[in-house]
Amino acid sequence: MAEMEQAKPSPTSLVLRALRSQPVPRPPIWLMRQAGRYLPEYRTLRARARSFFDLCYTPELAFEITLQPVRRFAMDAAILFSDILVIADALGCPVVFVEGVGPKLKPVRSAAARARLRRTAVVEKLAPVYATIRALKQELPTGTALIGFAGAPWTVAAYMVEGEGSKEFYVARAFARREPAAFAGLIELLTEATIEHLRAQIEAGADLVQLFDSWAGVLPESEFRRWCQEPVARIARALKSEHPEVPIIAFPRGAGLHLPSFAAAVPVDGLSLDTTVPVTAVRRALPELCLQGNLDPVALLAGGAGALEEAERIVAALASGPFIFNLGHGVLPETDPAAVAALVAHVKSLRLPRVPPHGAERDAC
Ligand code: CP3
Repeated sequence: MAEMEQAKPSPTSLVLRALRSQPVPRPPIWLMRQAGRYLPEYRTLRARARSFFDLCYTPELAFEITLQPVRRFAMDAAILFSDILVIADALGCPVVFVEGVGPKLKPVRSAAARARLRRTAVVEKLAPVYATIRALKQELPTGTALIGFAGAPWTVAAYMVEGEGSKEFYVARAFARREPAAFAGLIELLTEATIEHLRAQIEAGADLVQLFDSWAGVLPESEFRRWCQEPVARIARALKSEHPEVPIIAFPRGAGLHLPSFAAAVPVDGLSLDTTVPVTAVRRALPELCLQGNLDPVALLAGGAGALEEAERIVAALASGPFIFNLGHGVLPETDPAAVAALVAHVKSLRLPRVPPHGAERDAC
């Protein structure tokens, strides 16, 4: 009996096991922005499409791009190739990606502009995204988790009001203070639309979902709670009420000392840590929660032995509890794919003390 179990590797993905607080023999690994410009095979497909959103809205292309890093590096998870700003586009706030500049949106800076946005068309408009997920689900082995995602309402609203990327999002933050009712209306609309978008991704076959709140760190305490924590909590509660078995990871980038109270208030299964989070302190504060992260993408860009040593330090600090290896933010476009290959191989070679009772890897420890 024990022998049979040893011969047959568990079909459950290591990423899902970690999120369910089940023991894993080694740290599971995937990387934010694992698909993208640092891969030559991505640049080839990108050059063939008219725009970045063409890639997101063409299931054959989005399918292929999602699989590129999985094939090349044998990542433990595939993350749907899409973008957090498709939801703005689907609500009727047009988005274009300008080469070398980033996203440009038609700014939403009044109650009237907010009122022109329409939630009704979101899942129809984003149908190609769900078609991509269905195709990926057919293709991927059960050991490779399929990750759906969305931007958290604050981060998407920040882009919609600002009209472009920014270091501080002054325009969006001033709008939220000057016109709190209109801004609350936008957050409300995005919260509802994000629930629908993630629900549709789950129903199409996403094994888990991640909420990216990339700009959570620019807000003071009271606003962090109102614009980041509460909307994400509402989304998580809505998804949990329908799909309690589907894990949710939140990535409130820059949340710092808010992390323990955020984790207590939001029913998430995992917390993705940005580069600046002190790992030992957060592990001590949240001993039971699945933590994901948090190698500096610049360490990976610099490559070499330093990146691997840094990865080992992170595993040593975080893997005393449920853990998924990742970066603290997305892979930078200038990263050498060979450095990513070396990182994945190294993390996969590390063994964890918390092994399954009949696990095949037990002897390796
Ligand atoms: O992780 C993955 O591999 C899945 C795909 C993914 C993309 N964007 C593809 C993408 C995911 C999960 C995102 C999330 C995203 N998008 C975030 C949250 C995470 C973060 O980085 O903070 C944000 C803020 C965005 C918005 C966005 N999309 C910006 C600001 C930009 C321009 C900057 C840039 O890097 O070019 C994008 C474009 C984008 N999204 C690209 C990719 C591969 C590059 C587009 C290109 O090919 O030119």
